Amino acid sequence: METILSGMQPTGQLHLGNYEGALKNWVRLQDQYEMFLCIVDWHALTSEFADTSQMKDNVFQMAVDFLAAGLDPDKCAIFIQSDVKEHAELHLLLSMLTSVPTLTRLPTYLEKKEELGLDNYGFLGYPVLQAADILIYNAHKVPVGKDQEKHIWLAADLAKRFNNYYGLTFNEPEVLLTEFPALPGLDGKKMSKSANNHIALADSPEVTAEKLSKMFTDPQKLRKGDPGRPEICPVYYLHRIYTPDYQDIEPRCKSGELGCVADKKRLIANLNAALEPIREKRKKLVENPREVFDILSDGAARARLRAQAVMAKVRENMKMAYY
Ligand code: TRP
Repeated sequence: METILSGMQPTGQLHLGNYEGALKNWVRLQDQYEMFLCIVDWHALTSEFADTSQMKDNVFQMAVDFLAAGLDPDKCAIFIQSDVKEHAELHLLLSMLTSVPTLTRLPTYLEKKEELGLDNYGFLGYPVLQAADILIYNAHKVPVGKDQEKHIWLAADLAKRFNNYYGLTFNEPEVLLTEFPALPGLDGKKMSKSANNHIALADSPEVTAEKLSKMFTDPQKLRKGDPGRPEICPVYYLHRIYTPDYQDIEPRCKSGELGCVADKKRLIANLNAALEPIREKRKKLVENPREVFDILSDGAARARLRAQAVMAKVRENMKMAYY
């Protein structure tokens, strides 16, 4: 069985966009691959180092959402990056093989530097740490969005360089593109937590209803009777995912027969029904934090076994196994 690794920064509660874009895909993959899922707290530190007060809760909330969404700890190791020190050790070794201009040219680096004004050393090394996350499990595939593609290429390049210097040690990992396009948020723009236009998996049915009732629709459709344009309407976009029998909506919206209020009511009912099992599971997990942390600690123990075996081979191939 091939190995998959993916990672996510602990940003706290996940939203519908994360669920459709990443989690659902991971749940599918856990049956086909040996899977490692890493909550990358060290990566979060590269930008959030000044305030770590929310880290533990963010890690917890994320783990809860992973489990509630259907990730099965018996099938995939879910763990916290800083629980497996070998990530840091390999990061240091890979940093020797990484050219600084390669890092400073990356669009992810340039954009985030501009946006957040970061100039710390750890931030520059972000993609090298990510390469270590991947190579320390000798992962074959890395399921990520398009924005992460260049980071995976860098990891593959570092694997190749390492192999050239010290002999065959690492697989060259490949991107497994998550083909799902970004979900529109409440304002019609890409759903994201920072834009605060999201529906969290943790939101109650009431909060979800309230949010959806205020969701952006076709601005030219002011009242029932006006013809609407479903193709630009984010509510319609969500219908296509959550309303099994959505086919009548397009013609009835276009003709004006269907008003936005009734249309949203239908989406609210369907989305709430779809999220119900996730919310149930979530509630149970939140009431049992010990269980969640035990799962993470067990996941780390399994990850460590693999990481230590790969690290032993790294040291041996580098002729640095001293004893
Ligand atoms: N950089 C990734 C992101 O922002 C998160 C990440 C860290 C990651 N390490 C990883 C993703 C390893 C895949 C593999 O989404």
